[in-house]
Amino acid sequence: MIKQAIIPLAGLGTRLLPLTSIMAKELLPINGKPGIEYILDECIEAGIKEIIFIISKKKEVIKKYFYKDNFYKSIIKRKKDQRIKEEYKKILFYKKKIKFVYQNYPLGTGDAVLKTKKYIKDDYFLMLLPDDLIMKKNCSKEMIKVHKKYKSSVMASMKVKKNTVNRWGIYSTSKNLDKKNFIISNVVEKPDIKKAPSNNAVIGRYILPKNIFNILKNQVSGKGGEIHITDAIKALIQNNFKFVGHKFSGKYLDCGTMKGYIKSTLEINKI
Ligand code: UTP
Repeated sequence: MIKQAIIPLAGLGTRLLPLTSIMAKELLPINGKPGIEYILDECIEAGIKEIIFIISKKKEVIKKYFYKDNFYKSIIKRKKDQRIKEEYKKILFYKKKIKFVYQNYPLGTGDAVLKTKKYIKDDYFLMLLPDDLIMKKNCSKEMIKVHKKYKSSVMASMKVKKNTVNRWGIYSTSKNLDKKNFIISNVVEKPDIKKAPSNNAVIGRYILPKNIFNILKNQVSGKGGEIHITDAIKALIQNNFKFVGHKFSGKYLDCGTMKGYIKSTLEINKI
């Protein structure tokens, strides 16, 4: 069983400037609800019991969002507003499941994951990147089923436009397992458009093995000077760890770029 999830939240969010100059992008509202709450709901519905947030001093506002007890209590006492009561109940419910760890320098997603090493108990854990919302169908739940069936690591996958491959982790496959799942034989972080092995991209949902920490411990920085989780996954694949790519069936919303965020806020109403 996959019981723990980790969520890296310590990045700078430069693609959403100026909003992120004072706000954490994960708290920006999408149809009246912070993006991070969609991610939490997906985890909880998929049966996750503990969620580890990787934050930084600069992103402490995310922790504060869940620790406003005195404020809620005094407002509820004065206003007796049922909606606020319900919202506070929901915050308390989330808070019970969240643990916070710190990555104070944004050295990359791989370095962020390494910060959770001593808290991961089982052989596999789930990782969700909060910029990627997947609506309509619970992608994490589907991936947990795939993990159980193939006893492997799993990554969510989607075809992207060929002229955008240099924005994504791109993979090649070696074998189809069924209509939606296949064996991944290699993965490259943000390849040059001319050198990309395909236009199959990794989307922000991963089921990773605990062994990844052994790789991350010694990993040097890669593209753009950052320590990428993709490079650690590539090393695991080279060491014969089984990684299955899963074509998810939900609706993908990109909330990490300004254009994507604006589009997502409009599209979510049509879903
Ligand atoms: P990205 O690199 O895609 O986003 O990280 P970013 O750094 O937040 O934003 P930009 O690129 O400057 O616009 C993917 C996820 O990994 C987290 C981010 O918070 C994001 O959720 N991350 C990234 C970390 O936790 N630590 C890092 O060092 C880098």
